[in-house]
Amino acid sequence: MNKELLHNKLIEWYEQNHRILPWRETDDPYKIWISEIILQQTRVAQGMEYYHRLITRFPDIQSLAQAHEDEVLLYWQGLGYYSRARNLHKAAQLMKNHAIFHQEMRLLGDKARGEEIFAALKSMPGVGDYTAGAIASFAFNLPYPALDGNVYRVLSRLYDCEIAFDTTQGKKHFRQLAEELLDKERPRLFNSAIMELGALHCVPTAPDCSTCPLNTWCKALTNNTVELLPVRKPRPKVRDRYLEYTIYIARDKTTLIHQRKENDIWKHLWEFVCAERTGEEAIRRKVKGEKILELTHVLSHQKLHARFVIKNVSELPEIPDTVVVSLSDLDNYAFSRLTLKAIEKLLIPHRLFLPPKQ
Ligand code: ADE
Repeated sequence: MNKELLHNKLIEWYEQNHRILPWRETDDPYKIWISEIILQQTRVAQGMEYYHRLITRFPDIQSLAQAHEDEVLLYWQGLGYYSRARNLHKAAQLMKNHAIFHQEMRLLGDKARGEEIFAALKSMPGVGDYTAGAIASFAFNLPYPALDGNVYRVLSRLYDCEIAFDTTQGKKHFRQLAEELLDKERPRLFNSAIMELGALHCVPTAPDCSTCPLNTWCKALTNNTVELLPVRKPRPKVRDRYLEYTIYIARDKTTLIHQRKENDIWKHLWEFVCAERTGEEAIRRKVKGEKILELTHVLSHQKLHARFVIKNVSELPEIPDTVVVSLSDLDNYAFSRLTLKAIEKLLIPHRLFLPPKQ
């Protein structure tokens, strides 16, 4: 394999085909970090809107560190995987005075500095090998690979490798391949290019291999295994959960909400009064209420079967760990996407809650 030629072909393809994305227009490690955390489980189109809103409200690490976690969650509302937002906030508080987020670190240049930067990035809550590699290469042009799902796909095909990439052994193996393949002179460009090739060209199904810049080196193309790759380990079984929400509405247009505290889904987000049922209870229970809405919501390892019931009452009942809020103030609290959907379907159409004008 002529690596130099491969690098040139790949980077030439990138220069002609890449999308203009705001986090590619900067070498500010703070902005790149924010973008990478957003993009971990989110598509570019949706991520872009959140990126702009977060960077506008929290333009630097100090402003993020100073915010209350509830406000950060409010800005994250709807994106899912809320531990990302909690870790972002925690990391900002830990790292706000660290040299990597300050200009002087960029002026020093040697190998020791690279290792120091990578170690500091890896120490941040929510930052693993992928994110540390992405920030190190995009912000500091340091020679670290950044293996996201797109890169695993490109590499598995290029080397016709059928080891599952999401196992310990697979991660180690692909990391070695990526380190060997990396353009050490142009890590920023190389990592952007291989990621973009996976996102736009080397797609999961029916990629157009005839116009791929890497087709002369692609072993999977030679062996006719392109669509069989990459291989991942079998997914764990999805757990069903049954949640019954009661939306109390008092005459004075107040309701009860509580903040989830447990190490479970949606930690620190708010929701209406919730009781978890077994599957049998959920099926057996006849629920009475003014309006009932049933929704299913799929998370990575759980399928949630939710039932929302509106109960109009003259006075709110006393329920531990709940707070009384006016329906018109609901937009000051961060809710899961499931609860937002219920608000949208049950409260807004009946003018029980009016969303603020954007
Ligand atoms: N997905 C993850 N990181 C990305 C990036 N920097 N650009 C585009 N898509 C991405």
